[in-house]
Amino acid sequence: MNKGIRKQSVVLGLTVLGVGVGAVSAAERGDRMVASSSGAAAREGGTAVLGSLREQYRRPSAIPYPDDNPYSESKARLGQILFFDPRLSGSNWISCATCHNPGFAWGDGLPRGIGHGMNTLGRRTPTTLNLGWAPLLFWDGREESLEAQALGPMSAAAEMNQPIAELEKELGQIAGYKPLFQAAFGETTITGVRVAKAIATFERTLVSHEAPFDRWVNGDEDAISASARRGLALFNGRAMCSKCHSGWRFTDDGFHDVGVAGTDRGRGKLLPGLDSMQFAFKTPTLRNIAARAPYMHDGSEATLEQVVELYNRGGRIRRPSLATEVHPLKLTAGEKADLVQFMLALTSVDAPIDVPTLPR
Ligand code: HEC
Ligand code: HEC
Repeated sequence: MNKGIRKQSVVLGLTVLGVGVGAVSAAERGDRMVASSSGAAAREGGTAVLGSLREQYRRPSAIPYPDDNPYSESKARLGQILFFDPRLSGSNWISCATCHNPGFAWGDGLPRGIGHGMNTLGRRTPTTLNLGWAPLLFWDGREESLEAQALGPMSAAAEMNQPIAELEKELGQIAGYKPLFQAAFGETTITGVRVAKAIATFERTLVSHEAPFDRWVNGDEDAISASARRGLALFNGRAMCSKCHSGWRFTDDGFHDVGVAGTDRGRGKLLPGLDSMQFAFKTPTLRNIAARAPYMHDGSEATLEQVVELYNRGGRIRRPSLATEVHPLKLTAGEKADLVQFMLALTSVDAPIDVPTLPR
């Protein structure tokens, strides 16, 4: 599944990225960590029991980069410029950042994305945070690498509507790009593949910063409120959220039907014969969740309170594909509030991102 991409790494500084050294063991473990859902944690919510959860949530110290597209500062810089450049689109007015807007934690704050010709897309724009660790991309997991993914939205008629050959030609005519491609790839020739590699490198640098919850993980008991700590116990206990929202990114990178109503079959479209994958979508990260409403693949839940209510009811709609963990939880009003408080503690205040001056 991880296609041997774990060799190269870059140490995860908060604002500065240095070329990496050493192993990525923590990052690797991050992918495989599955939070336990001990009933004891839910009943007691005691410091000792909660404390034992800390290891599962520790942040990795390095970002993994694939061998065939290692990190370099000039490539990440070029990727950042391309990400913000609307000339990547057919109309020259939609950039990746139009939909993956840093001001909305790299989403767009809309129930569903709006693309070329004001066309409303079928699904909500997911965040591009913490994707360096994601084995499969898109809500339905149809793409396997950020490199392969990047060319998709550019050429998709409904999104940016720019054929790749046209893109190569147009960018080739912008003199200011030549030195940037020279620095990143040792040649001035602009190809779709290089554009994708640079964008993917930039995307891997987008990592959510330390949230109050991370300070709790590091031992500061009071970094999150008592309500949030009770929420954490529930999350790992009776509410069974951590069965799917596991590890420091709060995702198992798996696909589940959690009872969101609608006709989109999600991963089921790719795997029509697999009952459990019908109406199944990728478990979203819960990092920086407070900045990313509305929620779910179709933006159908406006607030975190509503999301908790969906789980409390055991899904809005019960189909044969509904995940077994999703069932009526009978949470009290206080317990629902605790779960929300816990999720709010997963949001970091990220350093402002610099919007690059675009080459002419
Ligand atoms: C018109 C809005 C829009 C634009 C422009 C756009 N995206 Fe997206 N992006 C989306 C939507 C919507 C999805 C989810 C689609 C799906 O899962 O079917 C998505 C998904 C993604 C994902 C997968 C995230 C995940 O969690 O799996 C990545 C990565 C991504 N986009 C990067 C980019 C890049 C790079 C560009 C520019 C080349 C770009 N996007 C341009 C709306 C947009
Ligand atoms: C069976 C796996 C599973 C369980 C259990 C689970 N989730 Fe989810 N969660 C998902 C999936 C999959 C989605 C996306 C579903 C969709 O869009 O159709 C999701 C979406 C969410 C979202 C919206 C995130 C976003 O960016 O849109 C939140 C918040 C959330 N879950 C919180 C929780 C909480 C709190 C619990 C426990 C009460 C929980 N989840 C239990 C798999 C799960």
